Amino acid sequence: MSFIDIEKGNQNNYTSKIRIDKKKDIVEKIIDYGEYSDELFKREIYWLTILHDTDIVPKLKSCNPITHTITMNWCGDILSEDNKPDNLYEQLFNINLILLKNNCFYNDWKAGNLLVKDNKITLIDFGWCPRIIEDYSCDKEVKTQLTEKPSGNYFKDIFKGQLMSNVKLLDLNKDWQQVRPTLNKVGDYFSITGYQDYNISKIKIVPISDNIKTKLSLMKSTIQSDILGKTISDIGCSNMFFGFLSYFYGATNVIGIDLDTDYLKQNNHLINQLLMKNVSCENINVVDYKTPADTVFAFAIIHWIYSCSGFLGSLENVVKHLKSITNKCLYVEWIDPSDDCISAMLHHIDFNKDLTKQDYNKEDFVKYLQDNFSSISYLGVSKQSGTREIYRCLT
Ligand SMILES: C[S@@+](CC[C@H](N)C(=O)[O-])C[C@H]1O[C@@H](n2cnc3c(N)ncnc32)[C@H](O)[C@@H]1O
Repeated sequence: MSFIDIEKGNQNNYTSKIRIDKKKDIVEKIIDYGEYSDELFKREIYWLTILHDTDIVPKLKSCNPITHTITMNWCGDILSEDNKPDNLYEQLFNINLILLKNNCFYNDWKAGNLLVKDNKITLIDFGWCPRIIEDYSCDKEVKTQLTEKPSGNYFKDIFKGQLMSNVKLLDLNKDWQQVRPTLNKVGDYFSITGYQDYNISKIKIVPISDNIKTKLSLMKSTIQSDILGKTISDIGCSNMFFGFLSYFYGATNVIGIDLDTDYLKQNNHLINQLLMKNVSCENINVVDYKTPADTVFAFAIIHWIYSCSGFLGSLENVVKHLKSITNKCLYVEWIDPSDDCISAMLHHIDFNKDLTKQDYNKEDFVKYLQDNFSSISYLGVSKQSGTREIYRCLT
């Protein structure tokens, strides 16, 4: 290997040695801080591991606790006037936000700890960083009754406005469009096409396209009892098949929500033509929708609201949001990152990558469902490729 050696942190006669091999994308940091070496090493590994998926720290490749050597990828040169990215302050702001989100009290801010490669800033040197612990009792000075932490999100709330101004969302009516919906009157029924194909009349609805037939068959043993006498939300409803089906199955109130104006127009035309009572379809972003319903259909929507057409910023927040709008029963579809609509088409989950928690994976999805609902049933695969699955969750 062709290492360049650099002495770093030369204080009180202690040094950390940095060895860089750019070609092999390797940096070795050997911590030599006398009696503190072990704890500096352990803290550094702790934070590089916790922050591994955030993209703001070097990727840990290996480490040796005996020699206190940490091997990472190479993240560029020290920040200077010559390599300063145009959006330096925006990047620093986002880095700070991610640190706070992870309860990291970074206490060594200086240009020497900021690296720049391809205009991207990476933060290094976590050896002295403690973890933030919220202590509402102020070291037992205050007798606190708090069971929740109302200001646990204090920093996040303060920064939310700023954060949102950095978020780039996909406009479903301008930037990209799904297949356009059509409606044709055939005798006493309407033939509907679009994301969902079905026929609908005043007395019944008949599924035509495989995507809705498959979902229906997976829910066949529970769907009627989850609808009869219940309030229903069909979020990201497209042609609103599940909303209209709920109307026929005896729901007391049905709302469909979507952002695609052609779909909204067509659904509302149907509601008027078929004189459906207590059924509406509204132009609302799912992330802003706050009204709970007894049963919620959340099919093929999680990848949109994680960070694409709406920004919840983490899969954990997506599941928490779905829970907050569900009184009793949630039907939700897992959309895997390998699903062709994500991997070969829109790359939904890569929007705002610097601002999102990198937790969009099935293991975390199932864990978040388990954390937020009292019972979870896996109903089966909803797409032949095996990249979509339906879950029924009870509060
Ligand atoms: C893939 S389709 C799914 C339709 C239906 N839920 C199903 O699975 O059969 C996603 C729908 O969600 C809508 N959508 C995407 N992002 C949304 C958002 N943030 N708020 C409301 N609707 C959204 C799209 O316009 C589209 O109609």
